[in-house]
Amino acid sequence: MALVDTFGRSIVNLRVSLTDKCDMRCVYCMPEEGMRFFRGAEILTFDEIERVVRVAVDLGIRKVRLTGGEPLLRPDAPEIVSRLARIEGLADIGLTTNGVHLERLAAPLHEAGLRRINVSLDSLDPERFQRITRRAAFHAVMAGLAAAERVGFHPIKVNVVAVHGTTEDEVIAFAELARRKPYQVRFIEFMPLDGGGAWSREAVLPGREILARIHARWPLVPVSRNGHAEPATVFRFADGRGEVGIIPTVTEPFCERCNRIRLTANGQLHTCLFGERATDLRALLRGGASDAEIARAIADAVLHKEPGHAINEPGFRRPAHTMSRIGG
Ligand code: 5AD
Ligand code: SF4
Repeated sequence: MALVDTFGRSIVNLRVSLTDKCDMRCVYCMPEEGMRFFRGAEILTFDEIERVVRVAVDLGIRKVRLTGGEPLLRPDAPEIVSRLARIEGLADIGLTTNGVHLERLAAPLHEAGLRRINVSLDSLDPERFQRITRRAAFHAVMAGLAAAERVGFHPIKVNVVAVHGTTEDEVIAFAELARRKPYQVRFIEFMPLDGGGAWSREAVLPGREILARIHARWPLVPVSRNGHAEPATVFRFADGRGEVGIIPTVTEPFCERCNRIRLTANGQLHTCLFGERATDLRALLRGGASDAEIARAIADAVLHKEPGHAINEPGFRRPAHTMSRIGG
């Protein structure tokens, strides 16, 4: 089976948000106050998530990434990992976390079968970290990264949202982190998913500028990755010490290679980060639908997958949802 959309893109990648809640309030992801979160009963249970993933894997999904909000706010997150790890045909499970609870959960997650972890870290300066995330959790996140390394996660990726006027100062420090630690550091261009307020075109720091800064200090060589379309363009240091990447979502969109769909914590299937149209899989799950009916709904949603985010087109309208809700 293969899920192919009307633009010929094969969809192999499903992102599953475990919760829209978060214990941080990163400026690029949520407003400081006034966030409304899904109620407990609205959130998919692990049985429901497992069922959707099984059906999706039968349709051709090969990779699942658990996201949030902050996925580790579901304290039994290791359990969903071990359930998914038993699904035949699912080659690859990853998790993207803010790292706050990672020190405690790294070992149980690893035991549950998780190997790939991405940790968000936007500054190496505790005060600036606090300004960006609106929480004083820098040391907890660093301890989480250290724990991930200790228990043997591979790869460990560090996600830095690149914001013009802020991130420039730290590009070299992050490159140095990538050289010193077994972490692939990736700079993600700031996208208009902050719930209004913070994003502007000027606030985008182009990935190419970041690379130029790093390359001037430590020469970089491109790493070619065959196989699945990945949003990151990855480079290694010419002297062999580590890797950095850019995810140039705004200045060099990769929508035409996009191979992903996303399930929100309340069971809505979105086919684009910016797409407001969604398929209500929860209604099917709770309405007694068969696996075949769920499969049909997923395949149908894929057929309507948007061509792209249109950020650079005239008349672009930001979606009302935040990154925290749609799930990173
Ligand atoms: N633009 C770009 N990246 C973002 N993230 C959250 N909000 C935004 C945004 N507006 C990042 C987080 C996380 C990843 C899943 O998405 O830092 O690492
Ligand atoms: Fe939480 Fe991640 Fe959003 Fe920050 S980016 S508020 S850590 S979900």
